[in-house]
Amino acid sequence: MVPQVLILGTGIAGLSCALKFAGKHPAIRVTLLAKERADEGSTRYAQGGIASVWSKQDSFEEHQKDTLAAGAGLCRAEIVNICVGEGPDRIRELIDWGVQFTKKGFDPAEEFDLHREGGHSRRRILHADDLTGLEIERALLEQVRRHPQIEILENHIAIDLVTEGKVFKRWRKPERCLGAYALDSSTGKIRTIAADITVLATGGAGKVYLYTSNPDVSTGDGIAMAHRAGAQVANLEFMQFHPTCLYHPSAKTFLISEALRGEGAVLRNLSGEAFMSRYHELSDLAPRDIVARAIDSEMKRTGDRHVWLDATPIPEGAKKFPNIFEMCRSLGIEPTKHPIPVVPAAHYMCGGVLANENGESTLPGLYAIGEVACTGLHGANRLASNSLLEAVVFSNRVVLHAAGLIEQIIGGKVPQAQPLPIPEWDPGRAVPLEEQIDIAANWFELRTLMWNYVGIVRGDRRLERARRRLDLLREEVNTYYWNYLLTRDLIELRNLLTVADLIVQCALQRKESRGLHFTVDYPNRDDAKFSGDTVIAGPKA
Ligand code: FAD
Ligand code: SIN
Repeated sequence: MVPQVLILGTGIAGLSCALKFAGKHPAIRVTLLAKERADEGSTRYAQGGIASVWSKQDSFEEHQKDTLAAGAGLCRAEIVNICVGEGPDRIRELIDWGVQFTKKGFDPAEEFDLHREGGHSRRRILHADDLTGLEIERALLEQVRRHPQIEILENHIAIDLVTEGKVFKRWRKPERCLGAYALDSSTGKIRTIAADITVLATGGAGKVYLYTSNPDVSTGDGIAMAHRAGAQVANLEFMQFHPTCLYHPSAKTFLISEALRGEGAVLRNLSGEAFMSRYHELSDLAPRDIVARAIDSEMKRTGDRHVWLDATPIPEGAKKFPNIFEMCRSLGIEPTKHPIPVVPAAHYMCGGVLANENGESTLPGLYAIGEVACTGLHGANRLASNSLLEAVVFSNRVVLHAAGLIEQIIGGKVPQAQPLPIPEWDPGRAVPLEEQIDIAANWFELRTLMWNYVGIVRGDRRLERARRRLDLLREEVNTYYWNYLLTRDLIELRNLLTVADLIVQCALQRKESRGLHFTVDYPNRDDAKFSGDTVIAGPKA
C-alpha cells in the first residue's frame, strides 16, 4: 500500500515536512501544493534569521526565559522547552540540506555569525546575511525538486478540506480529514486530492490588514479552511505588528529587520528624539509589541506619518545588511548618512489552527505546522526569529507522530482515503464572474476596516463596529461565492473575511490587555480571568 501525504504550502514548514516524510519510507508519496510559484511565501522574505542556542555563552534556559517573557504568560512551557531543546538538531539538518548560514569570517571552519534581536538576552540568531529566508527556501526547494517521491503542484489553491462527513451523508463524529479540493488557477479546473495525512502549512494572514510585511499569498486560507472543517482555532487576537517596515510609496511591503537595532540602529521621532527610552528599559531592544505601540503612540501624538530608524551608528552596516541597504539606496535613501522612514505593519499571526506537541489539529487526519499553527510557542507575542525555528521543529514532530499510521497503511492494516467515494467538487449553477471590480472593492474595504478598527490599539466600540461591517461584507461575498465560478481572488477574499471575523471574535473575548492585544477599555493584564487561550470551535462542533 502507498501512503499518500498532502501538504498545503511550500514555505519552510511544508518543504521541510515533505523532505522528512519522503525520507521516512520509500513507499510514501507526497504532494505539495503552492498557490503561486513554489518559492513564493513569507519564508523567502525572512531577513533576521532563525533563533537557536548555538553559542557557548548561551543556554537553553535563557532562550526559554526570553520566549516566555515575550509570550506574556500565554506560552505553553512544554512547547517552549521542545522548540528550544530540539532547535540545534533541526538547524544541523538545515545545514545538511544545504543552507549556508553566514560565518564570522571567510574560512569554512569559522563559527557562525550570531545576531541579536529585540527580546533576546543573547546573540543567537543564525542568518544568511539579511536574506536568511531566501537561502532556506532555495536550499529546501532544491532538495524537494530532485526527490522522486515528492510532487509539487504550483498555482494550485486549496479551496476546502475534504472531511468524512462530506463523503458519507450519515457519518457520525469524529470527523476525519481526507484531503482537499484545489483549484488549478492556470486551467480553472477543480481537483479532488485524496490523502491519508493532510498537513496545513499555508503560512500567515497579514493580508487581512491594509499595511503588512507579508506577501500576497498570506491570506489565512489554512485558518479559514480548518475552521470550516470543524477544527479549533485559537489566539487570533495576537497579530504581531512589526515595528519597522519601510515607509515609501514605491516599497509595497519591505521590512527593515529588527537585527539593525540589534547592531545599534536607533528609532527617532521626526524631531530627532530617540524616544524608546521613554517607553521601556531595554529601549530600542524592547519586545516587539512594546516598540510597535511606542511608534504608534509617537505618530498619534505628533500627527506624523512615520518615524525614523537611524542606522548610521551601525559599524559596517552596508556589509552586514547588504539587501536592506541596497533597497534603501534604490529609493534614494542613503542609510549610512540619513535615517530610514519606517512604520509598523501587520507581520505575524501568533494564533492559528490549534495544534498539540505533535502538530495534530483537533480534526483527526489534519496536522498544522508553521505560521498557520497555534502550538503555544509564541503565547501572546512571538519572540523575534522563533517562527522559522518552530516550523522546522514541528515538521519533524509531525513525521515522527505519523510513523505508526504510515506503517499500518504500508502493511494494509487500515483503510486508505483513496478508495473512498469522495465526491467531485460540484459547481452547481455557478457562472463566470464578468467583473472583478466588486472583489477588489470588498478586499480594500475589509483591509482598511481591519487596520482602522482592529489594529495596534483596540477598543470594544471599534471592535463591535468592525464586526457589524464584516457581517455585511460576508453576506455580500457569500453571494458571489455560491453564484460565480471560483477564482483565486474570490477564494482568498472569502477566507480573509472568515479570518477577520475570527480575529474580531477573539479580540472581543479577551477583556484585558496582554502581549500584542492592547485595548483601551481594559488596559491591564488580568491573570485571574484571562490566563488561557481564546479558543473558537469550528462551526460544525
Ligand atoms: P510561508 O512561507 O508563508 O508559505 C506559505 C505557503 O502556503 C506558500 O507556498 C503558499 O503558496 C501556500 N498556500 C497558502 N494558502 C494556500 C492554499 N489555499 N492552497 C495552496 N497553497 C497555499 N521569522 C523568523 O523566524 N525570522 C525572520 O527573520 C523572519 N523575518 C520575516 C520577514 C518578513 C518580511 C516576513 C513576512 C516574515 C518574517 N518571519 C520571520 C516570519 C516567517 O518568515 C514566517 O512565519 C515563516 O516563513 C512562515 O513559513 P510557512 O512555511 O509557515 O509559510
Ligand atoms: C526581522 O528581521 O526583524 C524579522 C524577524 C522576525 O520576524 O522574526
